[in-house]
Amino acid sequence: MTTICVCGAGTMGSGIAQVASQAGYKTIQFDVNETMLQKSKASIYKTLQMLVDKNKITAEQQTNALNNLVFTSNINVCIADIVIEAIVEKKDIKVNLFNQLAAINTPKTILATNTSSISINEIATEIQHPERVVGMHFFNPATLMKLVEVIKTEHTSNTVIETILQVCKQMNKVAVVCKDSPGFIVNRVARHYYLEAMKLIELNLATLETVDEVMENAGFKMGPFKLMDLIGMDINFGVSNIVYEAMGKPARLKPSIIQQQKVEAGELGKKTGKGFYEY
Ligand SMILES: NC(=O)c1ccc[n+]([C@@H]2O[C@H](COP(=O)([O-])OP(=O)(O)OC[C@H]3O[C@@H](n4cnc5c(N)ncnc54)[C@H](O)[C@@H]3O)[C@@H](O)[C@H]2O)c1
Repeated sequence: MTTICVCGAGTMGSGIAQVASQAGYKTIQFDVNETMLQKSKASIYKTLQMLVDKNKITAEQQTNALNNLVFTSNINVCIADIVIEAIVEKKDIKVNLFNQLAAINTPKTILATNTSSISINEIATEIQHPERVVGMHFFNPATLMKLVEVIKTEHTSNTVIETILQVCKQMNKVAVVCKDSPGFIVNRVARHYYLEAMKLIELNLATLETVDEVMENAGFKMGPFKLMDLIGMDINFGVSNIVYEAMGKPARLKPSIIQQQKVEAGELGKKTGKGFYEY
């Protein structure tokens, strides 16, 4: 049986761990923060119960998923065939975690990162056996969103890509292999959705509520401000900065001062109870 270790028990890690456990993988959820681990555990238990109540899964499937899960803040427990990291969007911290995991696992353990914007190539070059490093970019909420961008670096082996595609299939996801370029596909295209929306309110041309209402009625599932609150302001602002730098700082991709102020004020969106809206 394949074991997946999901690192990070925040917005993404919690959802990915649930998906992995439901897909039949023995799933270790690791986080350095006990409170986040407990929050993630409670959220997964609650969601699975809700799925049973709504007849979306059987009680047996719920039990199986729960039996597959282990929550830990001890890195030595993180022995797995595949690691999927979903920790802070900072390259050095991700590299450091992968190196710690590489030291206790075999060279065959696949190291997948859920980064939204950091170059997977740059991460891979700092890891021994870089052929096992790959991008596995889930979308928020990971339990519901079908897409996974699978990012192949110049080092990633074909065997690793095939394994990850197989895992995505078992998780009932739609996997698309992408090149390692800034923001990959979705975050590159979507950058303007957020940035132009913030420019409109900066220039006093519309309120954020109006922008959201207009975009939703134009057919987008979520207005840009609601979406930024869901993603997390720190994460979204981090991605904007990384894409801006990596693209050579073009004016059209300049991160927004409005979002910077939100991050500095700790108004990170749903996860802190306040972002552009209050929760
Ligand atoms: N939020 C989104 O919509 C979204 C979507 C796709 C991808 N991502 C990417 O997923 C990753 C995580 O984002 P998130 O929104 O879940 O963040 P988050 O802030 O909700 O959670 C991050 C978690 O990582 C933990 N952590 C930090 N350092 C750690 C370490 N060294 N070892 C173990 N755990 C550690 C924190 O305690 C926290 O629980 C980022 O790389 C982000 O770019 C986010």
